[in-house]
Amino acid sequence: MLGNALQTICIGIDEGKITVLGKDLEGDRVIDLSRYFIMPGGVDIHTHMREPGMEHKEDFDTGTMAAAFGGTTTILDMPNTIPPVTTPGSIDDKLNTISGKANVDYGVYAALMPGADIIELKKRACGFKLFMAETTSAQPLVDDEMRELLAHPELAGEVIAVHAEDPSLFQEGEAQSLPDHDSSRPVMAETSAVDKVLNMPTQATLHLAHLTCLVSFDKALEYSTEATPHHLFLSSSYHLGTLGKVNPPLRNMKAQASLFSAFVRGRVGIVASDHAPHTLEEKDQPFGKAPSGLPGVETRIPLLLGMVRSEQVSLGLIQATCCHDPATLFGMKKGHIEVGYDADLAVYDLKDVTRIQGDKLHSKCGWTPFENYNAIFPKYVMLGGEMILSENELIIKGKGKTI
Ligand code: NCD
Ligand code: ZN
Repeated sequence: MLGNALQTICIGIDEGKITVLGKDLEGDRVIDLSRYFIMPGGVDIHTHMREPGMEHKEDFDTGTMAAAFGGTTTILDMPNTIPPVTTPGSIDDKLNTISGKANVDYGVYAALMPGADIIELKKRACGFKLFMAETTSAQPLVDDEMRELLAHPELAGEVIAVHAEDPSLFQEGEAQSLPDHDSSRPVMAETSAVDKVLNMPTQATLHLAHLTCLVSFDKALEYSTEATPHHLFLSSSYHLGTLGKVNPPLRNMKAQASLFSAFVRGRVGIVASDHAPHTLEEKDQPFGKAPSGLPGVETRIPLLLGMVRSEQVSLGLIQATCCHDPATLFGMKKGHIEVGYDADLAVYDLKDVTRIQGDKLHSKCGWTPFENYNAIFPKYVMLGGEMILSENELIIKGKGKTI
């Protein structure tokens, strides 16, 4: 896949980078993949790999293994681990802990909190996360704190991923079901948060994470935006119980259908998984007590590829939303089959449509909300010019580098 076009071509690779594209290239080593479809490796800018502190849900080895099996070769990890990544010391500790464990390339976010040492944090972090509402293991900022932080001149050009929900519009009381959860953290809380944050002066690059409704996307036309596969494919009327409990909530069928059609029209920006695994034991509690979040790093691209035949999802759209645009936002030379870019590639047989089975996936949590959905998983995955996955086996481990 070159840009938007399918072509039969040789990809010349040297020292981890794509160095030449052409017909009939020669080289020391030639791999014939001519019967397959080659995409750039996926870039998932919103994942929760849970290490350190919640390794019973996931760790860097299993989470990045899941990424590789789903054709994703770069992940960015959110800061709501234990302890949270809020100081240069905590980010150094995280980077030390995970060093050598990642199976794909990675970056880690820092949380934007009052008093943050932005100069030191930005040397180490891929970007910042700003939580406007309470969610799993994360405390929100109040409006004045947010305004002051966003105005910080040292944030110029830094990406800030915003969890946009306005808690002043949440309903009191514990939700008992998915439709309840939707009403308790309603769409209006999202649109209000989007208004608020976009009205605060900043020189940072704002990225609005996991938006769920078209009004939000319309308000944020000039900004980077993100939708998740779960908000595109699932709704509050599905009988998922606590497995579908996530923040922001799954919306009703009508909202989901309009989000999906906006995606098909190229209107949602980036697709990121918000991979947020919890164990089945943790989910097996009364609805109000169960944690919010669901896994998705392994299924993000395979699910979309599984739709190419039946829906109006084009390969170009998948490449743009899952590989190229997220890489560009973070200034990475990835997500594109082009000279000078990293040789991160995922190789698919587009005829090999399978059904997703939670117990065959590689996340430690062992389940998926997309059970039985059609999907196309990669046959081979290359990271920095090395084949790391071949025929359903991770053949090289721990090769992931920080971006
Ligand atoms: C996330 C988690 O579990 O870490 N949960 C979620 O529902 N998305 C936290 C978050 O991103 O809100
Ligand atoms: Zn998240």
